[in-house]
Amino acid sequence: MGKGISIALDGPAGSGKSTIARAVALKFNYIYIDTGAMYRAVTLKALQNKIPMDNGEALTQLANQTLIRLKYIESEGFSQLRVIMDGADVSDAIRSLEVTNSVSLVSAVAGVRVALVKLQRDMAQEGGVVMDGRDIGTVVLPDAELKIFLTASVKERSKRRWLELKAKGIEVDPDELEEQIRKRDEFDSNREVNPLRQADDAILLDTTALSIEEVTDRIIELAVARGGEL
Ligand code: DC
Repeated sequence: MGKGISIALDGPAGSGKSTIARAVALKFNYIYIDTGAMYRAVTLKALQNKIPMDNGEALTQLANQTLIRLKYIESEGFSQLRVIMDGADVSDAIRSLEVTNSVSLVSAVAGVRVALVKLQRDMAQEGGVVMDGRDIGTVVLPDAELKIFLTASVKERSKRRWLELKAKGIEVDPDELEEQIRKRDEFDSNREVNPLRQADDAILLDTTALSIEEVTDRIIELAVARGGEL
């Protein structure tokens, strides 16, 4: 018997993917794979090495030379995901505004995607995973037993991000944040390589008026129907 099914969760920034993916993974005791964190790690390294964001060749080389590992640590009763890049914990650094502003450029480079998609497939090889991103259902795990495409209005998504940042003590202009999210979605959806797109066999869930719990419960129900065992 395998270790469980594969669940692909795609959608734009702020649609609630990571919170929901984490909750679903916990429920089934599956591994949660945050693919956005991997693109962020390569972006951080590019910034540290002052690699121009339009140098696709250098960015590809960098992605191929970077060791990225997702590590789970138990802390205060929670399993926390830590992102390890070349042996260093970069979990906080990859969430900086600087990284957020450049990550779309790095993730649009074909060679970077080839390197990271391979790594993501290796991680998901044995099943029992919840993977979130933009191209999981379409490219990374086309045979996933369950594919979900999460959306929410731009207003709602920017409100969620704003609250998330505020909770961390970071105050930003709500209008600027909305504009940033809108731009990133547009860029991620219109790039040539593996754009953000709903897979034909993915189930669309609009989370604008739903709570995290409601969405999580719905996905758990769907996953059980597709062979996931609680
Ligand atoms: O989910 P996130 O905001 O951490 O993702 C950061 C960026 O990485 C996002 O702007 C698009 C890109 N990304 C991608 O191109 N493909 C993925 N599978 C995951 C993220």
